[in-house]
Amino acid sequence: MAGGSYNVGHDAPRQYDGRVTGGVTSMEPFLKKFFPSVIHKMNNDSGEQNEYCKFDSQLLTLFTSSLYLAALVACFFASVVTRTFGRKFSMFFGGIVFLIGAILNAIAGNIVMLILGRLLLGVGVGFANQSVPVYLSEMAPAKIRGALNIGFQMAITIGILTANLVNYWTNSIKGGYGWRISLGLAAVPALLMTVGSVFLPETPNSLLERGHTEKAKQMLRKIRGIDHVDEEFQDLFDASEAAKQVEHPWRNITNPRYRPQLVISFLIPFFQQFTGINVIMFYAPVLFKTLGFGSDASLMSAVITGVVNVLATLVSVFCVDKFGRRILFLEGGVQMFICQIGTGIVLGLKFGVGGEGSLSKGWADFVLFLICAYVAGFAWSWGPLGWLVPSEISPLEVRSAGQAINVSVNMLFTFMIGQAFLSMLCHLKFGLFFFFAGFVFIMSIFIFFFLPETKGVAIEEMHVIWEEHWFWKKYMKMEDTHNSGHGSSGASTSAKSV
Ligand code: BGC
Repeated sequence: MAGGSYNVGHDAPRQYDGRVTGGVTSMEPFLKKFFPSVIHKMNNDSGEQNEYCKFDSQLLTLFTSSLYLAALVACFFASVVTRTFGRKFSMFFGGIVFLIGAILNAIAGNIVMLILGRLLLGVGVGFANQSVPVYLSEMAPAKIRGALNIGFQMAITIGILTANLVNYWTNSIKGGYGWRISLGLAAVPALLMTVGSVFLPETPNSLLERGHTEKAKQMLRKIRGIDHVDEEFQDLFDASEAAKQVEHPWRNITNPRYRPQLVISFLIPFFQQFTGINVIMFYAPVLFKTLGFGSDASLMSAVITGVVNVLATLVSVFCVDKFGRRILFLEGGVQMFICQIGTGIVLGLKFGVGGEGSLSKGWADFVLFLICAYVAGFAWSWGPLGWLVPSEISPLEVRSAGQAINVSVNMLFTFMIGQAFLSMLCHLKFGLFFFFAGFVFIMSIFIFFFLPETKGVAIEEMHVIWEEHWFWKKYMKMEDTHNSGHGSSGASTSAKSV
């Protein structure tokens, strides 16, 4: 990209983080130290006969999910920080907090330290998720905004894969401290993010938002690599002027004018989590163990899904600005639906309701194949687009608020699914896959009818897509009752799509 000195993928810690947890929660020394009751259950000491219920421990899931709860709360603070001090500072702060969390986890001597460290990781995640996608969408020229923004998801998937590989290795370390290495290595991406953010330039939008008009223009020239940026700069300037008239971004986003942004910023992350992806991502080792793969084989399977996740994300990098967001969403939806139904049927028939049956090697491989195809479907649709679309649809005046909704809803449902999964597996059994398939069906219908294509539309001109949409256009004509004298930023800019 011409003259662009910014880079993508500054969400390194997030990707590594919790994902490593899915691995350590199936490591015996870790469980023995912090969750001995799970070990008893695993060894059937408690008389638990049902395979599906082997790992059901509220405390264990609370450990996994507490990070997301912390991130959920943190993103509201992060939204104010990102608006007031800039995107760069948010990333920097998130990196530092994350670093402390990783260290605390690695040296944890008791459950309190373990959970405290994890809460700090969550705060780091909240700040990174708030600032990175917005940063990328603001920096990118409209033509390649999708591909650049997906750098964020790319980093997430590489982090998950790295975590899987690290777990695979640390699981084999004798002496029972492998889990410490796993958790402690989260400090590496945290350091990358902290140091990296110091060298990143700030976005022109954020500079304008904070009143640095001249600096903003220079920055736009620098990142576009050309001198003639007047037209684009005028759009950014108008957008920021409009934004300045808004005193309450939170109240503002509830105006009818912003109804599409409000609804989509809520529903996209909600649906993303109800694809069921994190059942696979967090608990792959546990899930595969339950399905009868051995301890090592199950980590290996998790590595395989990790590789698929990375490679399939690449597909979306190349397709998103060419074919658009909608087609990826819809294709991914169909693929995930078929795979989930398939997995549910195989497990139901072969594994039985009580988990008393077993999977032959052939059937276990087939399930692994279905799960990989499902992960691929997610990885080129809801995975990256779940971050891209909410970050690009809001005008500047409600962008931070919209992103905070996106992150908090994402974290809330990541938390809830993380928390509920082991009991859901225990109670719904193979029906769990039908449950998520139902959601995938509903979300695909939603995309089909309610999400207009955002490909190639300049970020401060997005209002055009709502004005032309069969459903959302009626909201664009509604009176703004909260902020008189001000509409969307688009009202003051020239309407054109690129
Ligand atoms: C989601 C995560 C998920 C990951 C899997 C992300 O977009 O937000 O919850 O674990 O994709 O690759």
